[in-house]
Amino acid sequence: MNKQAQAPIFETLLARAKRKVTSFHTPGHKNGKGLDKKLKEFTGKSAYYFDVTVFPEVDSLHDPVSSIKKAQSLMADAYGVKNSFFLVNGSTVGNQAMLLSACNPGDSVIVSRNAHKSILAGIILSGVWPIWLQPKVDQNLDILFEPQPEQIEAALNQFPEAKAVFITSPTYNGVTADLVKISEIVHRHGKFLLVDEAHGPHLKFHEDLPISAVEAGADLCVQSTHKVLSALSQGSVLHFNSEILDINRVKKVISMLQTTSPNYLILASIDLARRQAIQNGEKILERVIRIAEYARKKLNQTRHFFSFTRKEIQARSYDLDVTKLTINVTKSGLSGQEIDAILSKEYNIQVDAADLFNLIAILGTGTDKTDIDHLVKTLEEIDSKYRGTAKNWTLQIPSLSTEMVMMPREVFLSKKTKRVPLSKAAGHISAQTLTPYPPGIPVLIPGERITEEICNYLTNLSEKELRVSGQETDTLRTIKVVTV
Ligand SMILES: Cc1ncc(COP(=O)(O)O)c(C=O)c1O
Repeated sequence: MNKQAQAPIFETLLARAKRKVTSFHTPGHKNGKGLDKKLKEFTGKSAYYFDVTVFPEVDSLHDPVSSIKKAQSLMADAYGVKNSFFLVNGSTVGNQAMLLSACNPGDSVIVSRNAHKSILAGIILSGVWPIWLQPKVDQNLDILFEPQPEQIEAALNQFPEAKAVFITSPTYNGVTADLVKISEIVHRHGKFLLVDEAHGPHLKFHEDLPISAVEAGADLCVQSTHKVLSALSQGSVLHFNSEILDINRVKKVISMLQTTSPNYLILASIDLARRQAIQNGEKILERVIRIAEYARKKLNQTRHFFSFTRKEIQARSYDLDVTKLTINVTKSGLSGQEIDAILSKEYNIQVDAADLFNLIAILGTGTDKTDIDHLVKTLEEIDSKYRGTAKNWTLQIPSLSTEMVMMPREVFLSKKTKRVPLSKAAGHISAQTLTPYPPGIPVLIPGERITEEICNYLTNLSEKELRVSGQETDTLRTIKVVTV
């Protein structure tokens, strides 16, 4: 039998569920019997037989010897890596684990500012110095791009003490960096390449998708199996494929960060998502890719919406996972957030994210053509019903400070902070993360010297009453700074 046809965690749980074992273990609902009736009425009760705890029959995530060990090994084979680890707290925990595995306190890491918040959490947990790279703004497409390989090489030359380079690829928009080149550069400098590939667990399974991080040479990469493939939410995987990192350290870190009561339904769904991807992934993705192409074509025939193509992204020296649709709405005179709210309240359609310029619609194994027709038709209806006057918005980011005066971890632990008015904040050390949307990346990070330019940028936003994530007060008139 083809090894990849097996699903060891699922099969073990299923066999056990069929025996209807009397439970004297956690969780307290006992195979679903004690659960709220309304919940069971809606969901049915079978799934709750899978909600078990650690005992020899079902194996332990922290010290796997049977079904979980086998499932992780099948996952590693499927992706062609040395080891794979199942995560039950999403790629969030994987990003933290990568930093804690590759770095010691006091080390420094080159990392793009366009990073998920879990990376800053990992920076605080691991006590490292971040060396931030400024993303590139594309004002034709109204999106940010990850740093180019040349920018990474320059940073490695400038900061030879850096231990690792941390890249996000694909971005939320599905744009992938030139990881082959980046991997060659990073390894030539003797550093680790860590990749947040939360949005790319499927890349490996179709040739019309960009190259995946481990194929390009990443030492560690994390994938949200739940984001595009069919695992349940929180189901992610960390792949290890390094010649230079210590696998035992990685194992220890993952174990330190994960719950001792993993949800076995999530574990089984990761196991099955791998089986589905390897057995039918190409066929399923072929369908999703065709639907995505159809969607782009339809969107690009509308008057006021567009979705950039793979060709346009390749012309900029990046690549695109076409299954992510970034829908630019600026010509409609409405913001992405306004359209998002209308779609959701009036039309029962929910996209994944929205900013001033774009909506992001993620297609998945369950998307079909009628969903696309419905979306495009609805957008056109909204356009004619609500169209505003075209705005002259441009995606801009200030030149971000690169002067880290204190480690984010030191600031996190420090009690010596105060609030100062925005007009007087320049020169102080920020004790806050402030992330305006747009650009959706932090313009201030704990430990950074605040510049006049950033103060002016924030004052401008505050005058427009635009909320900034992390502002902690109702209106952004002050910034929390470190008092040294
Ligand atoms: C780029 C990126 N990395 C990491 C994460 C965290 O992934 P998860 O939700 O699986 O914890 C996200 C979540 O949206 C993300 O967009």
